[in-house]
Amino acid sequence: MSDAEAARALAEGHLVILPTETVYGLAADAGNAVAVAAIFEAKGRPRFNPLIAHVADAVQAEAIAVFDARARALAEAFWPGPLTIVAPVRDRDRVCDLARAGLDSVAVRVPGHARARAVIAAFGGPVVAPSANRSGRPSPTTFADAVEETGAFAAAALDGGDCAVGVESTVVSVLDGRVSLLRPGSVTREEIEAVVGPLDRDGEGHRSPGRMALHYAPDAPVRIDVVEPRPDEILLGFGPGVGALRWSLSPSGDLREAAANLFRRLREADREQPAGIAVSPIPAQGLGEAINDRLRRAAGFVG
Ligand code: TXA
Ligand code: MG
Repeated sequence: MSDAEAARALAEGHLVILPTETVYGLAADAGNAVAVAAIFEAKGRPRFNPLIAHVADAVQAEAIAVFDARARALAEAFWPGPLTIVAPVRDRDRVCDLARAGLDSVAVRVPGHARARAVIAAFGGPVVAPSANRSGRPSPTTFADAVEETGAFAAAALDGGDCAVGVESTVVSVLDGRVSLLRPGSVTREEIEAVVGPLDRDGEGHRSPGRMALHYAPDAPVRIDVVEPRPDEILLGFGPGVGALRWSLSPSGDLREAAANLFRRLREADREQPAGIAVSPIPAQGLGEAINDRLRRAAGFVG
């Protein structure tokens, strides 16, 4: 299907599987409450968990959200790319109440994936797109995984190749002059602080409603920070010589590679129906913060 046909499907109120550089999304017209309701239905997602509005550029972003100087600086530094900015909502119709879960704020991002931006530009307005997994499961980072998860609910599925980043966007709120990290992602805390200065205490000003434990979870139980796996567990290793090469998140110990492989390896391991999935310790700094966040949730710890 062409980008123009995908845009038409969105305009007609259908759902479309959309590639982004982070993970695959299940997209709908942000202003169409019936289409947005179909997303919550397809994912089995609780309705109190708001969605991200994806736009083609910063001009479209400021048409739906109110940006202060720091929000603008973040947009300039990281868009297009894996950063989501939560700011006061400006246009309550183009991003409907259901999409925002009734909040006075809206989450916005300009995706880095060219095909995602092309479809949004052809559509001409904000497109909400949560990760295309069923709620609580690992996010899809390949076209095949996205179709397997929610393809049955979509009128069209666009193949954009494997996701280069592999973990969801970083979510920051810029509200009442305070900047807080709501969800760690591939834009790191350090990179954000280099632009806006020290962050407010995490989620202090504004909690991200979607941050529940047992998120991103495969069927097999997950244990993290494991040095000695049990014989019936698959070990997802990190670093040279740790576990079987086939299951390694990154044989060389590279955090970008580990992020890109994370959800795919969790899914592949799960398909083998092991007694459990064990994961090597991952360094905490930089991109490791996002990887460890997803792993703690896969293991069922409260965040
Ligand atoms: O990389 C990504 O962000 C992917 C791709 C498809 O763009 N999308 C994604 O969407 O991860 P989703 O729906 O799985 O996660 C959205 C997160 C949730 O944690 C939600 O609670 C938070 O953003 N969020 C959305 N609107 C918010 C708001 N107004 N205030 C606080 N948190 C918000
Ligand atoms: Mg998700």
